[in-house]
Amino acid sequence: MFKKVTGTKDILPPEVTAWQEIESISRKVFSLYGYQEIRTPVMEEVSLFRRSLGDSAEIVQKQMFIIERNNEALALRPEGTASIVRAYIENSLDKTSGFGKFYYLGPMFRRERPQKGRLRQFHHVGCEAIGSLDADLDVEVIALSDALLRALSIDGYVLKLNSLGCPKDKNALSVSLRKLLENKHGKLCADCHLRLKNNPLRILDCKVQACREVVQSLPLHDSYLCPECLAHFKRVKNGLEALGISYVSTAALVRGLDYYTQTVFEITHPSLGAQDAIGAGGRYNNLVKELGGPEMGAIGFAFGIERLLLAYGRNAEVAGSGLVFVIALGEEARKESLCLLYQLRKSGISCDTDYQGKSLKGALRKAGDINARFVVIIGEDELKKKSVTLKNMASGKQEEVPRESLVAQIKSLI
Ligand code: HAM
Repeated sequence: MFKKVTGTKDILPPEVTAWQEIESISRKVFSLYGYQEIRTPVMEEVSLFRRSLGDSAEIVQKQMFIIERNNEALALRPEGTASIVRAYIENSLDKTSGFGKFYYLGPMFRRERPQKGRLRQFHHVGCEAIGSLDADLDVEVIALSDALLRALSIDGYVLKLNSLGCPKDKNALSVSLRKLLENKHGKLCADCHLRLKNNPLRILDCKVQACREVVQSLPLHDSYLCPECLAHFKRVKNGLEALGISYVSTAALVRGLDYYTQTVFEITHPSLGAQDAIGAGGRYNNLVKELGGPEMGAIGFAFGIERLLLAYGRNAEVAGSGLVFVIALGEEARKESLCLLYQLRKSGISCDTDYQGKSLKGALRKAGDINARFVVIIGEDELKKKSVTLKNMASGKQEEVPRESLVAQIKSLI
């Protein structure tokens, strides 16, 4: 028997209802904020991610699914931002529409060790606003992430906020980190020894307990920010406060991707266990230029849908289908029932029937299993009288309804 690839998931019908809810609620919230959907391919050139996320990023070093053939190296996208910026530049959206707000939903791929909330194929719902340096946009994007969670009735989350500053400030932070960590070398993991040389900011993101303890003991603050970046950060914080959005200033929050500048944020949820980040994002003011476009600021975020579902707590629920279930008893009734199904569907009433030759009792049980609101029974008697028996599954009440008024009768009841 074939099995699915480790770290991937089949999303079966009862659970898929919760996915559809998350998708449709997200679409509504994004359009409330003026974002339009963008769809990019799941495959990109490997070099796009190397360039955007940085060679020292864990995703680039260890986690990309790469397909190599005939001098071509493609990667299954590990995240959406790089692809969207690529599409923005390639389709000259900087020239035609300038400032653009995009949202996306779709699968991402990372070769990680699977565990609760961590998959190799997972799904993002995210957005990118490209073409502005305005701090008010940071406030809007963070408020949007908050609105999305509220629309999904998820609460109890924590918004962690930090500013990395401009590249100069990031560099100043790197230098000061190197100094601060000089005499703590022995306590760091082997990977962090390398990070100390190549990219000390990554150490702040290390998940090894000993390294986390070292990081927690560091006297980190925003003193390495230049006056401009400090002012930007203050505007973002004031804006969030004005909207009543609470956040926790987290000086050690750096995020694992190189493209971030200035504002970064992460949203965690206590119910998720070790993988507690349900979403994250930030500004990336140099990425458009870095990928060959003009100099323009941008900011975005992405939520992991699987993790939203863990916090949403709805994935095991069987949603009511609201169906009418038609039961035909006998060959002639069967023919009549097919016309009836056709007519109900034509009138916009969702309905189904039994295709397994079940008895009346079995078919009624099936109608109960799929949460049908009404059952329509056609037997010999009903055929003779040109009527049907309509059963309300909630009340158990049954009535005889003339065949030609069935659609109107059901419509009046729903
Ligand atoms: P990220 O933090 O790498 O950011 O991913 C965003 C979210 O995706 C995480 O907070 C988590 O909920 C989910 N996620 C990540 N990896 C996995 C996994 N292996 N299994 C399940 N869920 C996962 C980004 O990808 C950035 N592109 C976000 C962004 C958009 N920044 C600016 N714009």
